[in-house]
Amino acid sequence: MCVGIASSLVAEHFAVDGGARLVGAVDVVGAKNSVLKLMAAALLAEGTTTLTNCPEILDVPLMADVLRSLGCAVAVDGGTVTIEVPAEPSAEADYRSVSKLRASVCVLGPLVARCRRAVVPLPGGDAIGSRPLDMHQAGLRKLGATTEIAHGRVVASARDLHGAQIWLDFPSVGATENILMAAVLADGVTVIDNAAREPEIVDLCLMLQQMGAKIDGVGSSTLTVHGVTGMTPTTHRVIGDRIVGATWAFAAAMTRGEVTVRGVDPHHLDLVLDKLRSAGATTDIEADGFRIVMDGRPQAVDFVTLPYPGFATDLQPMAIALSAVAEGTSMITENVFEARFRFVDEMIRLGADARTDGHHAVVRGIERLSSAPVWASDIRAGAGLVLAGLCAEGRTQVWDVEHIDRGYPRFVENLQRLGAEVTRVPAEPAR
Ligand code: UD1
Repeated sequence: MCVGIASSLVAEHFAVDGGARLVGAVDVVGAKNSVLKLMAAALLAEGTTTLTNCPEILDVPLMADVLRSLGCAVAVDGGTVTIEVPAEPSAEADYRSVSKLRASVCVLGPLVARCRRAVVPLPGGDAIGSRPLDMHQAGLRKLGATTEIAHGRVVASARDLHGAQIWLDFPSVGATENILMAAVLADGVTVIDNAAREPEIVDLCLMLQQMGAKIDGVGSSTLTVHGVTGMTPTTHRVIGDRIVGATWAFAAAMTRGEVTVRGVDPHHLDLVLDKLRSAGATTDIEADGFRIVMDGRPQAVDFVTLPYPGFATDLQPMAIALSAVAEGTSMITENVFEARFRFVDEMIRLGADARTDGHHAVVRGIERLSSAPVWASDIRAGAGLVLAGLCAEGRTQVWDVEHIDRGYPRFVENLQRLGAEVTRVPAEPAR
């Protein structure tokens, strides 16, 4: 894992000095887990689609490369992404672009819909656990496509797509999105039951509706799609990132701070904020965000990850980090991605009293963590480690921060603005 130290360059890292109380206001921009799917959805219509409020994170230019490999012209200008889709996009995504970005698999549904064929290299495993595509493929097959995995690629083709009744085994976000984006251009009515209900799926449905799709049941676990024969490009504003918003809420609670978070729908965080109130925080809910204040040490609370509206698995590292400094013992149950508890080993480096057993982690809170070098294994684990570093005695070095850059725009700058002592230490030649 210690890639940077082993090579001739010592990679950049974040230096986090613990002890500061976070105070102030922070603006949240569009959601990573929304923008990437919306960029894929643009493929459904010839012409120029524009997305605004996009986050300036590494994954956006990576997804732009995937779309370019399909024949689109893509411009990324700050928070605006413009995608010009040709009359006949290529159906084969380039391996090099896809391999860098797991979410690129969401071009599968739109390509099958538009080109009646898709060849998408498998993005491979992930640090958070196995991420199969069986539900994506089963759904596309129900719509009339053939799919197989051959030579490391998902190959799908269909002469015609027709509406079908589809029951998902699990409300998978990615499978719901791919099936939905194929169904909008299928002939007849498709019903997706046990569909994922994440706000990012609602955002996708809203954009698809603006493009001409006919979808009923938006926001529910039964999506009914009446296929249309063509779609038109649109302009759409990406919803605020609830995971980033929640990360700031945890940061405030852990540092006994006082933070106003703007740019996110607070109702997407109802459960998260309720948990933090149980931990002792007070909150004011506003139209476009919330204010959170924590006066004393957080009290231990239990967390169970589940599909939305349950507690998001992406926030499990924040839950563990909070529990590590809370008063009392917390049980954290992971139901979505089994390997996510790898994060606990990094927390133990920081002195956390934590152990895992299968789907459960038991964390006994201690007053103060102690600084250490730690390694981010994925985006959310990285953010969780920075939050833990804010509550540790001394200077914590967080390595492999490119993961954090994939999901948190201007993370260090925002932390500094809130009073945290965090710096990005650039790469330097090894001694
Ligand atoms: C998306 C999010 C990710 C979040 C996750 C769950 C993006 C880019 N990523 O990932 O941040 O943690 O939702 O909220 O939006 N599964 C199968 N077969 C399938 C598909 C999924 O078994 O065909 C399993 C997965 O292994 C996992 C569970 O279903 O255990 C949930 O996965 P899914 O909801 O599909 O997550 P992603 O869409 O990959």
